[in-house]
Amino acid sequence: MTDTTLGALPIARTPDPVEAPALRWGILGPGWIAARFVEALHANTRQQVVAVGSRDHSRAGAFAAQWAVPTAHGSYEALLDDPQVDIVYIATTHPSHRDNAIDALSAGKHVLVEKPLALDAAGAREIVTAAARADRFVGEAMWTKFLPKFDVIRQLLDGGALGEIRTVLADHGEFFTPDHRIYDPELAGGPLLDLGTYPIALAHMVFGSFTSVIAHGQPAAPELTGQISALLSDAAGNQAVLHTTILSDTPTSAVISGRDATLHIGGPFFMPGPFTLTRHGGSPVLHYDEKPGTQTDGLHYAAAEAARLIANGRIESEIHPLRYAVATLEVADEIRSQL
Ligand SMILES: NC(=O)c1ccc[n+]([C@@H]2O[C@H](COP(=O)([O-])OP(=O)(O)OC[C@H]3O[C@@H](n4cnc5c(N)ncnc54)[C@H](OP(=O)(O)O)[C@@H]3O)[C@@H](O)[C@H]2O)c1
Repeated sequence: MTDTTLGALPIARTPDPVEAPALRWGILGPGWIAARFVEALHANTRQQVVAVGSRDHSRAGAFAAQWAVPTAHGSYEALLDDPQVDIVYIATTHPSHRDNAIDALSAGKHVLVEKPLALDAAGAREIVTAAARADRFVGEAMWTKFLPKFDVIRQLLDGGALGEIRTVLADHGEFFTPDHRIYDPELAGGPLLDLGTYPIALAHMVFGSFTSVIAHGQPAAPELTGQISALLSDAAGNQAVLHTTILSDTPTSAVISGRDATLHIGGPFFMPGPFTLTRHGGSPVLHYDEKPGTQTDGLHYAAAEAARLIANGRIESEIHPLRYAVATLEVADEIRSQL
């Protein structure tokens, strides 16, 4: 899309997820997001979920019964030893992602890791090294980037439809009660890695790199951040103003604003849903009309992309390569160091 007259929005190039070759998936960590993932695969793809592994056999069994998964394993090791499994979806809590991913690669499996890829950039780089050594696919399930809506947005950005982009405003705030794992410092709680990774990844998608990060936080409890505002600048001085919180529900919207036009992505910007592109001066306004959806309506796009790439002998996605996950965590590391 190189037409900057903005007569119409480009069409999403995302292939139909149903057409993706079927892989045999193993689910590692049968929690909340794992259930949404299996639901999305069953509803929207031909992917086969063949096994689930938990640290506790009864939890694996309950998940398997609820989601019609044929095999339940009472340890992660047993899941990784299962020859029926081609690819492992890692859905454990953040501190386990690095070791789970490296163990899965050592067992010869392909891997899709829930975000964040690791606790920090150093851990993410260890996964990158292990992936290259194992010659297996590894991807971060930053599902937003794989949605058809984001393919349209990428085409607009790549085609220069917004003119020179100066500003990104992005927010992800959700109220959680203190009984949620996001309040547990032992599980790297706080908004940064669960919610903040979305605004950071969006800013990275637009600007590529940052020369300055300034962050300010408010605690939710001792040793736990509640909300963060961050100002990121690139070498040209362009700015991303980001916010994330677990203390209240905030708009969760995003704006990408250039000299010629502005993109308004309504909240939650990271899920399926509509956006508008408004030309400077207010006309025309182009609408991307998509029904707002949740994880169940979108997690499968990253899985289908992994299946297509693996079938073609590829070990990394171009839509969201591992270096993007590392770059997101480099920003998160800097924010954390300032709080
Ligand atoms: N893409 C998205 O929209 C999205 C949404 C929510 C969460 N996530 C990501 O998904 C990951 C899991 O989040 P969740 O909300 O699904 O969490 P959850 O419901 O608490 O599930 C996490 C699973 O991890 C396993 N686990 C391993 N070590 C653990 C430990 N020390 N403490 C607690 N659980 C442990 C548990 O399985 P067993 O003990 O049974 O093995 C548990 O079922 C997070 O990293 C999060 O960032 C992504």
